[in-house]
Amino acid sequence: MCGIIGYVGHNLCIPKIIHGLENLEYRGYDSAGIAYVLNNKTKIIKEKGKISNLKKLLDFDTTTNLGIAHTRWATHGEANKINAHPHSLGKFTIVHNGIIENYSKLKQELENNGYVFKSETDTEVACALLDEIYKQEKDILKALNKVTKIFRGSYAFGIICSDDPNAIYALRCTSPLIVANSPDGNFIASDVPAILKYTNKYILLDDFDIAKLTKDNIIIYDEFLHETKKKVNTFSGTFESAAKNGYEHFMLKEIHEQDKVFKDTINFYFDGTIESLKKNFSFLKKYNKIDIVACGSAYHTGLVGKSLIENYVNIPVNVEVASEYRYKRCFYDYNTLVILVSQSGETADTLAALRKAKNDGITTMAIVNVVGSSIAREADHVIYIKAGCEIAVATTKAYLAQLAIFSLLTIYLGYQNKTISENELNIILDDLKKMPKLINDTIKNNSYFDIADKIYKNKQIFFIGRGIDYAISMEGSLKLKEISYINSVAYQAGELKHGTISLITKNTPVIAIATDTKLIEKTISNIKETKARGAYVIYVSNEEPSEKFYDELIKIHKVHPILQSILTIVPLQLLAYKVAKNNGCDIDQPRNLAKSVTVE
Ligand code: G6P
Repeated sequence: MCGIIGYVGHNLCIPKIIHGLENLEYRGYDSAGIAYVLNNKTKIIKEKGKISNLKKLLDFDTTTNLGIAHTRWATHGEANKINAHPHSLGKFTIVHNGIIENYSKLKQELENNGYVFKSETDTEVACALLDEIYKQEKDILKALNKVTKIFRGSYAFGIICSDDPNAIYALRCTSPLIVANSPDGNFIASDVPAILKYTNKYILLDDFDIAKLTKDNIIIYDEFLHETKKKVNTFSGTFESAAKNGYEHFMLKEIHEQDKVFKDTINFYFDGTIESLKKNFSFLKKYNKIDIVACGSAYHTGLVGKSLIENYVNIPVNVEVASEYRYKRCFYDYNTLVILVSQSGETADTLAALRKAKNDGITTMAIVNVVGSSIAREADHVIYIKAGCEIAVATTKAYLAQLAIFSLLTIYLGYQNKTISENELNIILDDLKKMPKLINDTIKNNSYFDIADKIYKNKQIFFIGRGIDYAISMEGSLKLKEISYINSVAYQAGELKHGTISLITKNTPVIAIATDTKLIEKTISNIKETKARGAYVIYVSNEEPSEKFYDELIKIHKVHPILQSILTIVPLQLLAYKVAKNNGCDIDQPRNLAKSVTVE
């Protein structure tokens, strides 16, 4: 949520900063801005909308070698130029990720002390408070350290102080922030893609660390202002993995990577033997009650996970949206495991849910994509998916990789619990081997685009399914609405008639998913109810129907139910993609959304 980059080095900073900022645009694109130091003076240029608007205002040859920049996902105040970052008051200029929760009270006090604010942001309040404390302390580090005792909430700051125009300061609490040294100079950034062109080595700041970057040096201070040495991490992806590689959109590229992502994720934990699963997952054996907690698409993978684990391992699973879970009463017992699912590993509500479980003494396990992210670091156990860098806001490959992990966990636990027999195990493992090719075949089928061409003008599109197919419907519906802005709801097929069917009129698209053999007949009855009201039915199934109750058929390959959802989701992703494309939508950066939601 919001992107931060800063550079200080021997080269011109604007080209480097803008390049980095463009690689972070998926984190926020309501407005963008830069502050750079020229002849010891800080100059700020900012603009509403995308980074391309900001670029038009910049002279890339400006002889400045120090700057900080920001691409914004608005939290406080409208997405306009005044509220865009950087903000400046007194001697401090700041770019900020996160939310300072007690900013209103602080703002009143600062106004009483004579500060005048131009924007509605909490960030401008941070500038003023820092300025006020600096006047007392007369020391930048001490002032930075002191504000951490006053702010409540989450923040990652990139800071320039006019009294030290050759340095960038960085400070974080909860929101991630990295610093990196490269042959080209020193960087701060909210995320690795911003700096990958220059280096894949980076240091992740801990909460309340302060970093001071000059052109030849990076010094990190801990919360007691002692100089501290930190572990240097290496990002295993490449710069190419963060590029479009000839695809029109990142989302399309990422959908096409899913066969490889599946293979990489499975192979990381499973070498074909049950022993390898034992080695990686044996810690799971003792739990007989599971809570899965996540947000957005990760929550939807949790729903699939619940269906798999309950049906094949025979233990109860409760799935909750993290923003609700963290405030609700939980009925833990000694054998409860809390599983957090998060692509970014930084989602604020999921992180808070993790902390809640840990506070209550419950073992936590995270399924995460981003290595070293907060959730990965704080959970008792981590299972990394191997999705690589995901740029499109609408997740596809990370979602599929999360499903792959739930399949593996189910296979392992089911086999251990003897709820999956040796015979069934062999059938599953046979299918598992075929999956990368089947995923690839499913992606390559271009009939979905023709179907999308027929439905893209509709104002609403329904998804229905039962059981695990309902869980997949929810993700299909979310994919569609988040990138195409078409109203879409997913319903349990049997529930539709209790109200929502009143919205079905002639030609309303209903995408019906039916892959669970024992429920297919029931779902077909529900489909017929919609057909009788004029629905335009798109039937997604792994079985050839014996009668024609649909308008369009998407036939997917049939595999063992533990693996089936991984194939079912692919056509839904591509349908959503093409519907959005036909509507001229900004597919990789849908309005109002951000890739990683680090505010509550
Ligand atoms: C945002 C993204 C979604 C994602 C959700 C949870 O809303 O747009 O695609 O599913 O956050 O993110 P996480 O990183 O925790 O999986």
